[in-house]
Amino acid sequence: MLESWAMNAEQNSAETRQRCERLAQALVERFGPGEPVRFFRAPGRVDLMGSHTDYNQGLILAGAVDRDIVAAARLRHDGKLFCYSLNLDQEVRGSLSSLKRDPADGWANYPKGALFELAKLDLTLPGLDLAVHGTIPVGGNLSSSAALLVVTMTAALKLLNQSLSAWERIHLCHRAESDFVGLPCGILDQFTVVMGRPETALYLDCRSLEWQPVPFPADRAGLVITNSGVGRELVASEYATRVAECKKAVEHFHRYRAQVQSLRDVTEEELTALGPMLPEVLLRRARHVVTENRRVAEAAAALRRGELEELGRIMDAGFVSSRDDYQISIPELDRLHALMSQVPGVLGSRIAGAGWGGCMVSLVRLEAIDLFTKKVAAQYREQTGRSPAILAMNISGGPEEISG
Ligand code: GLA
Repeated sequence: MLESWAMNAEQNSAETRQRCERLAQALVERFGPGEPVRFFRAPGRVDLMGSHTDYNQGLILAGAVDRDIVAAARLRHDGKLFCYSLNLDQEVRGSLSSLKRDPADGWANYPKGALFELAKLDLTLPGLDLAVHGTIPVGGNLSSSAALLVVTMTAALKLLNQSLSAWERIHLCHRAESDFVGLPCGILDQFTVVMGRPETALYLDCRSLEWQPVPFPADRAGLVITNSGVGRELVASEYATRVAECKKAVEHFHRYRAQVQSLRDVTEEELTALGPMLPEVLLRRARHVVTENRRVAEAAAALRRGELEELGRIMDAGFVSSRDDYQISIPELDRLHALMSQVPGVLGSRIAGAGWGGCMVSLVRLEAIDLFTKKVAAQYREQTGRSPAILAMNISGGPEEISG
């Protein structure tokens, strides 16, 4: 059953080997002969619950997926950084001594950011050739950006024969994304990509940084990702606006109770009593975050008990709250949610990652995945004229070196 819709491990590794060969070839063709080439991978991630809770010091439930970025890498000895993306057939060349964000460099700002942060820890490479290939849909809210940061960092550390603790690596990539690249994000993506493990969801408290693995029953249900193929232009500006709105809402609750340092600290009672004094928009943002944290805790408990129907119900409730209160949806995602909800065997669906376009993630009974794929694709096409990419994904392991 599983093989009919998800890539199995053998297929996956044969495909990975081919990608490595193509990358090594491209690297030598472009950048000439040099040191031996080594290979690395880092996965994308999917969030099962916890929409915009991470930068509010709240809770998340997420997993790494079996779509990834593979990198071929080798040291240089002239202080240069040469990067190549096989997907885009695009090359960026620079110098490791003057790493600066440059909008013209696009995707290459991520490897640059990871190397910039490593250099701050005195982990400086003598030069690097890096060629990458990804199978994570770009702009789909599945964290191809965190995967690119993490695969670069993993390659650099291995080539230097150095190591950092998991949390050092998570924080390093988080700084690279928020400070160097400039998106004021939380820690969801970097944490999940670095800590990923097969068939296991990760339940994280973003304040205490305590986390627990929660087994995901891959023999009973699958995670299906539907890419709406639209949107995301709003992410940069709207995301920063949400971060600022949450800060404003915190100031309000803090005036009444000094212990409130983030929306994470606001109780549902305080929300009911003090929320209505806030401007409508801030009340909505606060209500989403406060209730979403409860839903994440309930979702983790349901998954731990193996109650997938309950998990699905919570995902649907999360969708409604993120659409109505946090307002991260767009008409195409609303449409997809409505279509998905009508397919028997779909337990729940929500918006992946930041929102404003990109992907939906659905929890679907294994036997219903084929029907889901056909129905949702046909109806979405009929109603919007767009063909959505629909991919079933397994929860998979974290970054690693691929042995040659
Ligand atoms: C993006 C950010 C994450 C998180 C999600 C929304 O993926 O990078 O830190 O805030 O949006 O939950």
